[in-house]
Amino acid sequence: MSHVRNNLAASLAANAGAAASANGHRIFTEHIVGGFGDTTVLKGISLRIAHCSLTAIMGPSGCGKSTFIRCINRLHEEIPRAWVTGKIILDGQDIYGADVDPVAIRRKIGMVFQRPNPFPTFSIYDNVAAGPRLNGLRKRHALDEVVEKSLRHAALWDEVKDRLERPGTGLSGGQQQRLCIARALAVDPEILLLDEPCSALDPIGTERIEELLVQLKKEYTIIMVTHNIQQAGRIADRTVFLLLGEMVEEGSTSDVFTSPKDPRTEAFISGRFG
Ligand SMILES: Nc1ncnc2c1ncn2[C@@H]1O[C@H](COP(=O)(O)OP(=O)(O)OP(=O)(O)O)[C@@H](O)[C@H]1O
Ligand SMILES: [Mg+2]
Repeated sequence: MSHVRNNLAASLAANAGAAASANGHRIFTEHIVGGFGDTTVLKGISLRIAHCSLTAIMGPSGCGKSTFIRCINRLHEEIPRAWVTGKIILDGQDIYGADVDPVAIRRKIGMVFQRPNPFPTFSIYDNVAAGPRLNGLRKRHALDEVVEKSLRHAALWDEVKDRLERPGTGLSGGQQQRLCIARALAVDPEILLLDEPCSALDPIGTERIEELLVQLKKEYTIIMVTHNIQQAGRIADRTVFLLLGEMVEEGSTSDVFTSPKDPRTEAFISGRFG
C-alpha cells in the first residue's frame, strides 16, 4: 500500500491550504439516530460542517452513509418505515422543527445521486429549468439566464451551449452528472449533498467532477459520500469515517489520513477492510 500512501501524501499537501481557510460552521448534526422499522442504522452522529468546505464521508458499504446524508435534506423520511431522531441545525434553525417545511429544506439543500439521473424526456435546457419553473420563474429571458449560469457553474456550458434542446440523456455519463449538478445549482441551494457522484464515471469524468467540486466549495458547503479514499484525500477539507452507523473519526483530511486516532480508521484507509 506504500504507493497509495505516497499519492495520498502528495494530494494532502496540495489540499492543506484549502482546509486551513475553511472557517465558521454552517450545519450541526446533534446525536442523529435513525433507521428503518426495527433496525437502527445511525447510532448517534454529531458533526459540525464548516461554511464553504468540502466534507467527505467514507465507510464500508452498508454503514449508513447514504442514510445519513438523506437525513440532512429530509429525504430519508420519504422512505417507508424510515425514522430519525436528533437535531440538524442549519444556520441556527432546526430543520426538523415542527414549523419547518421539508420541501423548503430540500430547496436549500440540493442533492446529487450516485447514478446520473437527468429527467429522461427533458432537454438539457429543461432539465436545468425544471426547478426554477417549479419555483414560479416563467419569463424566458430569466430562465435563459439561470440555465446558462447554472451550466457555467457546473463547467458544462461550453460543451452543450449549441445543443440545449437535445435530450439530457444523450450526454456522456460525466456530462450527465454535471447536468445533474447544474440542475441542483439552478434553484440556488445553500448546501450541496453528493452521494458517490463519481462511482459511475470513468477516470476523466471523475477528474472533471473533482475539479468542479474544488471550484464549487469556494461558494457552497458540500458534503460528499465517496467510496474512493484517494478522492477524499485529493479534494476534501474534512473527512468523516463511519462504521456500522457510528462516527469512528472526524477531522481535517490530513489528520485523518496521516495520523488517524482510531485503529479502525487506519485499517480502512490502508485498505485492510471495507
Ligand atoms: N429503504 C430501506 N429499507 C430498509 N433498510 C434500508 C433501506 N435503505 C437502506 N437500508 C439499510 O440501512 C443500512 C445503511 O444503508 P445505506 O444505504 O445508508 O448504506 P451506505 O453506507 O450508503 O452503503 P453503500 O456504500 O453500499 O451505498 C443498510 O443495512 C441497509 O440495508
Ligand atoms: Mg450509499
